[in-house]
Amino acid sequence: MVSRPPVIGRAVAVPPGTPDQGVPFLDLGSDLADSARLRAELDEAWSRTVGSARFVGGPEVAAFEAEFAEYCGVANCVGVGNGTDALELVLAALGVGPGDEVVVPGATFVATAEAVVGVGAVPRFVDVRPDTLLLDPAAVEAAIGPRTVAVVAVHLYGQVADMDALAVVTRRHGLALVEDAAQAHGARLSGRRAGSIGVAAAFSFYPGKNLGALGDGGAVVTDDDALAGRVRRAADHGRSGKDRHVHVVPGRNSRLDGLQAAFLRVKLRGLDDANAARAAAMARYRAALPPGCVPLAVQPAAEPVHHLAVVQVEDRAAATRALTAADIGWGLHYPVPCQRQPAFLRDGRRPETLPVADAAAERVLSLPMFPTLTAEQVGRVCAVLASVPALGGAA
Ligand SMILES: Cc1ncc(COP(=O)(O)O)c(C=O)c1O
Repeated sequence: MVSRPPVIGRAVAVPPGTPDQGVPFLDLGSDLADSARLRAELDEAWSRTVGSARFVGGPEVAAFEAEFAEYCGVANCVGVGNGTDALELVLAALGVGPGDEVVVPGATFVATAEAVVGVGAVPRFVDVRPDTLLLDPAAVEAAIGPRTVAVVAVHLYGQVADMDALAVVTRRHGLALVEDAAQAHGARLSGRRAGSIGVAAAFSFYPGKNLGALGDGGAVVTDDDALAGRVRRAADHGRSGKDRHVHVVPGRNSRLDGLQAAFLRVKLRGLDDANAARAAAMARYRAALPPGCVPLAVQPAAEPVHHLAVVQVEDRAAATRALTAADIGWGLHYPVPCQRQPAFLRDGRRPETLPVADAAAERVLSLPMFPTLTAEQVGRVCAVLASVPALGGAA
């Protein structure tokens, strides 16, 4: 048996045909290795872009922006450098800045709060629901103060947050409701796609995402034309739309590459199929996991896209020991809740106590999840977990 270290939040490139019984946490290579059609389309996208010599912006970016806007069901998409920039550009375009507070969940990837700090505002961390680990609308309302200007709802692990309840709260207090959809390409709530529900949404196209580029990339989507215009201008050095030599606001460089856009156009065509394959794998997990591994709940109107297969376990050390011994990759998303990250505890700031987010950080465990994960591989992961007495499995 080939021995591989456990993988925490990273991809493992598994050579096709590797004769072992391990299961990688994320296998970015198998899609490409197994699908001659996908490989040919990516090669064609590469040749087309190299032939056009339009490497930043250009026709591939414009075409991808139009296609992704249509997919999300919004009027505008602006391709940018990555998902963190997308969030920061949205907040800046909304006028969020020094002296403002933005409500964010404690259970999220650090980038959500980084973007708030990036525009000079203060992240106000609030708790999440115990069953879904998504932003708790009641906790949001309780945290709103005189400086609060916006709420960032994170569609964590691929499930859209409770946007209806959050919209009631943000409307009542006159706040902007922004979506962090970095983990939720294609997810729906009551038929509406992630990205089409708040005032604007940020997507990441980091390779491991449901819609992943072959490098970094991101996008802002919104129905608000003026907001999209401000994001586009800020992401391109504050350039005037009329004269490229005139810079009307201090901006930055955060643009989507032509090559990444060309690759994303290919991957977007397969996104719904890939999400369906993830859903099938998640259904198999739900059917076969031992009682001590509890998957997150799905809200009645939600159609998640299972970016990650997260379960909550009481004895995570026992679970990870067994997985590692069986050469099965696993991840932790996230073992240090955002409100406890030293990055946000400067100037004597003390961490908020968020009982659900704090407890989840100790209990969450991400199991292998990627579109080409087979039924047999899911079965192997579940059998290993079921063999752990502490998880309610066989002694
Ligand atoms: C919830 C969330 N928000 C934002 C980001 C930031 O995206 P990027 O890595 O493209 O900057 C990520 C990416 O990991 C994420 O998971």
